[in-house]
Amino acid sequence: MPAKKLIAANWKMNGSRALIETVSQQLTTLNSEVDVLICPPATLLAYFPVSGHYSLGAQDISEHAEGAYTGELSGGLIKEAGASFVLAGHSERRQYHAESDQLICAKIQQAVTAGLTPVLCIGETLAERQQENTEQVIAKQLAAVYASHPELLAKSVIAYEPVWAIGTGESASPEQAQETHAFIRRQLAEYDSKAAVNVRILYGGSVNAANCQALFTQADIDGALVGGASLKPAEFMQICQSAKD
Ligand code: 13P
Repeated sequence: MPAKKLIAANWKMNGSRALIETVSQQLTTLNSEVDVLICPPATLLAYFPVSGHYSLGAQDISEHAEGAYTGELSGGLIKEAGASFVLAGHSERRQYHAESDQLICAKIQQAVTAGLTPVLCIGETLAERQQENTEQVIAKQLAAVYASHPELLAKSVIAYEPVWAIGTGESASPEQAQETHAFIRRQLAEYDSKAAVNVRILYGGSVNAANCQALFTQADIDGALVGGASLKPAEFMQICQSAKD
């Protein structure tokens, strides 16, 4: 089992230098029983005070190492800005930027090459769940990265984020999430059985202070990727505290 839970904040296109101040101050009271990751907009990364209390991540990465790619950020640039993690394949990027599984695989390779830990986001839409295709969709998203590059698994974090639960206030139930997380771990074992035991599988989708405890008691839920509630410092702290127990 993964040693410690990881609570990750995805600020999306929100946040400010003022929010950095409040959040980083709050997190100084947290001890080391839980790992915390903040993924702000990349322009804010360098404003975070150097601290041992949390890690930083970007929300996206270019599939290229460098060059004439206007507007893109390479793994090297992200690392230099102070991040050690990067999200890849968030459903909002799959949906609004037409990111394919192949592109996401290339991004994960770039992340690992740059020394960043990629957080691979996967999950089904409401229609796919209703058609009982959840496992098929997830298996395909995982295979696109790890079937050809099983060595990347030991360096990854996985985030299961059912699209229907993102920003809707309707979280997956703890049992629903656990069932899918267990499936993800079984799938990953086909690529690297040792890494599959240790890889952290986060749940994301309407996680808040009220529902996180029940999610964290599930055997295969190793933390959370929190959107909206991560913008409220007191609530985000509560979620981090719940992950310690
Ligand atoms: P919400 O917590 O706002 O549902 O967002 C989840 C998410 O997309 C995190 O990456």
